[in-house]
Amino acid sequence: MRTETPQTIRLSEYRPSDYLIDRVDLDIHLDPTATRVRAMLALRPNPAGTPGAPLVLDGDELQLESLALDGKPLMQGDYTCAPDKLTIAQPPQDPFSLTIETRIDPTANTKLMGLYRSNGVYCTQCEAEGFRRITYFLDRPDVMAVYTTRIEANRAEAPVLLGNGNPVASGELPGGRHFAVWDDPHPKPSYLFALVGGDLGSVTRAFVTMSGRKVDLAVHVERGKESRADYALDALERSMRWDEKVFGREYDLDVFNIVAVSDFNMGAMENKGLNIFNDKYVLASQETATDSDFAHIEAIIAHEYFHNWTGNRITCRDWFQLCLKEGLTVFRDQEFSSDERSRGVERINAVRTLRARQFTEDSGPLAHPVRPREYREINNFYTATVYEKGAEIIRMLKTLLGEAAFKAGMDLYFSRHDNQAATIEDFLTCFRDASGRDLTQFALWYEQAGTPRVAVSGHYDADARRYRLDFAQSTPPTPGQAVKQPVVIPIALGLVGPNGEDVGGEAQGLETDGVFALSRASDSLTFENVSAPPIPSLLRGFSAPVRLSLDLDDAALLTLVRHDSDAFNRWQAAQSVATRLMTRPDRPGDSRGADALAKALDGFLAEEAEGDPAFAALMLALPPETEIAQEIGADVDPDAIHAARTALKIHLAETLAPRLATLRAQLASSRPYSPDAGSAGRRALRNIALDLLASCDPAIRPADEAEAMTAAQYDEADNMTDRLGALNVAIHAPGIGEALRDRLLADFRTRFTEEPLVLDKWFALQASVAEPGTLARVQELMRDTAFSLNNPNRVRALIGAFAMNNPTQFNRADGAGYHFVAEQVLTLDTRNPQLAARLLTAFNTWRVLEPGRRAKARAALEHIAARDGLSRDVADIVQRTLA
Ligand code: PHE
Ligand code: ZN
Repeated sequence: MRTETPQTIRLSEYRPSDYLIDRVDLDIHLDPTATRVRAMLALRPNPAGTPGAPLVLDGDELQLESLALDGKPLMQGDYTCAPDKLTIAQPPQDPFSLTIETRIDPTANTKLMGLYRSNGVYCTQCEAEGFRRITYFLDRPDVMAVYTTRIEANRAEAPVLLGNGNPVASGELPGGRHFAVWDDPHPKPSYLFALVGGDLGSVTRAFVTMSGRKVDLAVHVERGKESRADYALDALERSMRWDEKVFGREYDLDVFNIVAVSDFNMGAMENKGLNIFNDKYVLASQETATDSDFAHIEAIIAHEYFHNWTGNRITCRDWFQLCLKEGLTVFRDQEFSSDERSRGVERINAVRTLRARQFTEDSGPLAHPVRPREYREINNFYTATVYEKGAEIIRMLKTLLGEAAFKAGMDLYFSRHDNQAATIEDFLTCFRDASGRDLTQFALWYEQAGTPRVAVSGHYDADARRYRLDFAQSTPPTPGQAVKQPVVIPIALGLVGPNGEDVGGEAQGLETDGVFALSRASDSLTFENVSAPPIPSLLRGFSAPVRLSLDLDDAALLTLVRHDSDAFNRWQAAQSVATRLMTRPDRPGDSRGADALAKALDGFLAEEAEGDPAFAALMLALPPETEIAQEIGADVDPDAIHAARTALKIHLAETLAPRLATLRAQLASSRPYSPDAGSAGRRALRNIALDLLASCDPAIRPADEAEAMTAAQYDEADNMTDRLGALNVAIHAPGIGEALRDRLLADFRTRFTEEPLVLDKWFALQASVAEPGTLARVQELMRDTAFSLNNPNRVRALIGAFAMNNPTQFNRADGAGYHFVAEQVLTLDTRNPQLAARLLTAFNTWRVLEPGRRAKARAALEHIAARDGLSRDVADIVQRTLA
């Protein structure tokens, strides 16, 4: 089978469906290898479609058993049928029903799309186009129907049977079988359909909505792991309360079920009333989950719940509008986490993710607009751009319109488009109508790919007591978009005096809350009555997803570190100095730059570390190697970057060591473990302190001292954050000898043999070691009994971590890293194309590498491209990456 260049779907070619489906009645007989699905569809011609058009239903690897129209079996000549398509040439032009019987094999379904089995549990995944793997259907989000689902199964195999909506009936059947009937009164697109059947345990809680309706909440997990679902259940309740309070959104069914499964391609899925989760984002206990696991669980539980309004009640007209639900829902979950935790810390973490994933994507061959104009495989567009940049657009909208108008726009959106499949235009029109503001230029954020650059320079006129900022914006070309227009960039700013004092200054054209909206290619802003030359603090809170360049010297940046009133910019200033030191290192023998940074951080720690340890931990973390590579931008040598970063880290560690040692002791907790953000912050600071202490030259701090500290933290840990923190240091830090490293790795492996999610951490850690032996180690670990190519979490932990989290070893100069990952992509492609395509995106930076590595990466990509029979997922990514 030769790989065909897949067909391109274009936004400009959108047409309404020729038929609509109002009702779907499903009867599903679960069986491990021969599940029978009977679907009864109530259809009618769409007034907006082409009269008399043929009815063409989507399928994917389906086997048709029988077909009837208005109850009468259809004859051979009345329809044509293939695994991917069912066509009725001349359907009735009045309402009619179709009864379709298909047979599917959930055990053989390794793509994890449609109905499959995970550890024996039947579950479904239908977004984006998985429903067509269950029955023939108009599998597109603008076809919305009400569903009833009858599920029948062997009681011993699947005592728990769950569907969308409310449970309406259940009972026993002969032969050890039983059934349940679920009714979902809310019209929905097929991608939100779900069912689950299995032997699951659960934790439950009653919730009363703001209008007094009672809802039964439940989280279902593998039997025996119930207690690990408590945190998720609690996060669900808090999310529901928050959405009522902040967005005025109430839940709309009698039950809300969450099910955790161990084989899942993504994080989780917002199916109506029946969210299905990768168990990594549900299960948590003190011993097995890190603080960042807890934070992710909280965020993803919230995210999927918030989709009930932004995604489900109001869905997308077509898949080009994916950011309508995803960007908005990410924004909502970020706001939730900010309210539940620390706003400043949450913002910094969100920006770190954005820069690592979205900025990288936006500067490479896969760059695309937040609303793409075309795709060949929609699965490849669940990207950082659609999600994270999509969320930044909503945040900018709020910044530009202000709190009140933003809220009015959201309310209008909820009331005007409830029960509809909407577009970005519909969404923006609500904000225009609510605020009276013209959003035409703002809409460009959805259309233009690439990260805008904003260059700023400041000019002080002492005689006139005037300060002027000159701004210029430009967006680099991206695939298919050579020329860019200026966008509206909200720049939150303030002026800081040389000693941190307020230097006054009023500017025309500044919105009252200190936001300058840069909308032209270049513009200036003038402040009057400025008493001394100020230091500008720009893009406070990272008010726009742009790259800022500003000609501030290190001394000015270090003043911001100590004195800016904006937490984000304090952190950013330290990051900027560090980035500068790593891209333009001090000359040999001259370490003044690094000394100044170390001194500023030391002063900061002395005064503030104990008060806000989470923030302090972020201040101590150097920018990741990928970010430095982006800053360099061309002819990148990952080994040189790693060396520069390690050198700076050691330098900082040596200056800060005395203070860090004291802090570690002060922060040691005697209180019982709690996953709350405050306690997590203390652990984060202790862990980074340990990491730095273990990086010191033995001449400064004896290595056996570092080893003793690391071993003690590991052995005495009562929680996963501390234990994994110590293991991480043991495996990466130069000051730790092989003996300790091997002992801890072996201990961790035995201690958690029965814990797949913890073993994932063990695999990932070893795959990310920046040493030449790592590739061989990864290959050896693939033969570990706990490794499996069938489990996406395991593949991501070992192969994914190597490809995405280990810049020096994936980018080995001899090309062996590329070759290895390419082979894994090809192997995975035959069983799980989505997973394979995702792994392949590790190559997205290949063009900025130095020529030797670039040629080797290209060869690996061409090796993949040359393979016959590639999936559409992998063919699409490899072709765009090479283009
Ligand atoms: N819609 C899911 C979310 O963002 C993501 C997802 C997409 C899950 C496709 C599975 C398949 O919440
Ligand atoms: Zn989502």
